[in-house]
Amino acid sequence: MAELKDLAVPPSDTSKNEALDSPSRGESVQFGHKMRKFFLFDRQYNNLNHGSFGTYPSQVRSRMRHYQDLCEARPDRFIRYDYPKMLDCSRKLLADYFNAALDDIVLVPNATVGINTVLRNLRYNPGDKILYCSTLYGACEKTVEYVCETTPATSIRVELQYPLDDDDLLEAFRDGLKRGQDGGRVKIALFDAVSSLPGVRMPFAELTDICKQNGVLSLIDGAHAPGQVPIDLAKLQPDFFIGNCHKWLFAPRGCALLYVPRKSQPLMRSSLPTSHGFVPLPCEGKIIHNPLPPSAKSEFVNQFEYTGALDNSPFLCVPDCFQFIEEECGGQREYMEYCQTLARQGGAIVAKLLGTEVMDNKEGTLSKCFFSNVRLPLHAEIFTSAERSQVSQWITNKLVFDHHTFLAVFFHADSWWVRLSAQVYLESDDFRWVGQILDQLCRKINDGGFRDALKISDVEE
Ligand SMILES: Cc1ncc(COP(=O)(O)O)c(C=O)c1O
Repeated sequence: MAELKDLAVPPSDTSKNEALDSPSRGESVQFGHKMRKFFLFDRQYNNLNHGSFGTYPSQVRSRMRHYQDLCEARPDRFIRYDYPKMLDCSRKLLADYFNAALDDIVLVPNATVGINTVLRNLRYNPGDKILYCSTLYGACEKTVEYVCETTPATSIRVELQYPLDDDDLLEAFRDGLKRGQDGGRVKIALFDAVSSLPGVRMPFAELTDICKQNGVLSLIDGAHAPGQVPIDLAKLQPDFFIGNCHKWLFAPRGCALLYVPRKSQPLMRSSLPTSHGFVPLPCEGKIIHNPLPPSAKSEFVNQFEYTGALDNSPFLCVPDCFQFIEEECGGQREYMEYCQTLARQGGAIVAKLLGTEVMDNKEGTLSKCFFSNVRLPLHAEIFTSAERSQVSQWITNKLVFDHHTFLAVFFHADSWWVRLSAQVYLESDDFRWVGQILDQLCRKINDGGFRDALKISDVEE
């Protein structure tokens, strides 16, 4: 494992010069369609939406199957004795990658479980509030709602309308905090590193600082961060951070990290679900049997190691994902640089074809990620709000069933937008291709009488 650990490049610097200065890296890497050979796509399918569910290279799949085979060869030995050690290798690589202490990093199946773990473990008193931005991922907003239904907590929603300068976003966030402190206190604020819709980078370091200055717990939804955004947790010091490895780190689905620094660990009484690792408060005469081998690891780490019988083989693929990025993508810096550049170029190509614009602010911070969001040339005013979701569905249905691709289509700030993902297996031609398709679809909606074009009954198929 020592070599694999060394392959995890510290993510603190993605500068072009650094990347070009490192002689042995990236020289033979050919990004774009040549990379498709590493992936498992249907020949007809063009994946322009890596951001939703990710996908992983065939070599990572083979490793996952290998771990599954090891498990089936000796189920008890593997689950009770071998798997915990292998899991520690993945934790160690992620701890090094994010510059965090090993004992502050555990693995969970996905960001949803991570966010639920944090929000459901906190104890809320009357007057406690959970603050979040309106662009929060829908399932996370629903988790906030659920917590508010089942505890004394209430929520504060900060409305964001993009494109937005970072300073304006920070001011809106501060205003939200002020509102929340009125007649109570904001206990925790939840915000993204890179939000989902729109797919934009948020000023998460500044937001974390504001939380610290105001005595508010910070929970960063970094679902899109691993692989995409350099993060130094020792510097950032949020109270909680969650990151999916199954998006931009190429892990199989079901692999995410939860970072809880030592000072916040007492707030996390249990993994979700609670399992053998849970240590109940002492109760005289009551001993609950734990069938797992004794462990010297901390209560926090121990709890998340086993949360019931599951196939945790995706957790074990973290070293293989780092290896793929190192060997086939030329390293983290090259990977990040290619995808960020392609996202910008691709977005510009699509916007030009559509005669619209890419969503960005004047500092260009929104697009410092692997997404670009392009406005669709549709006349929003001719649609009722009920028809709007049908418009989005019609476009996505056409993309999926006629053109074998997918883009997230969403309505934001009185316009339709598409979110495009850049990835190593794509090149600018793919954006040109999908831009032309979008142009045709939008023309059909705008020119041909939109109700005909929508063929609303087809949308139900
Ligand atoms: C910002 C954000 N948070 C959370 C999630 C949920 O991730 P998962 O489905 O892996 O739990 C997503 C999924 O796309 C997301 O984009």
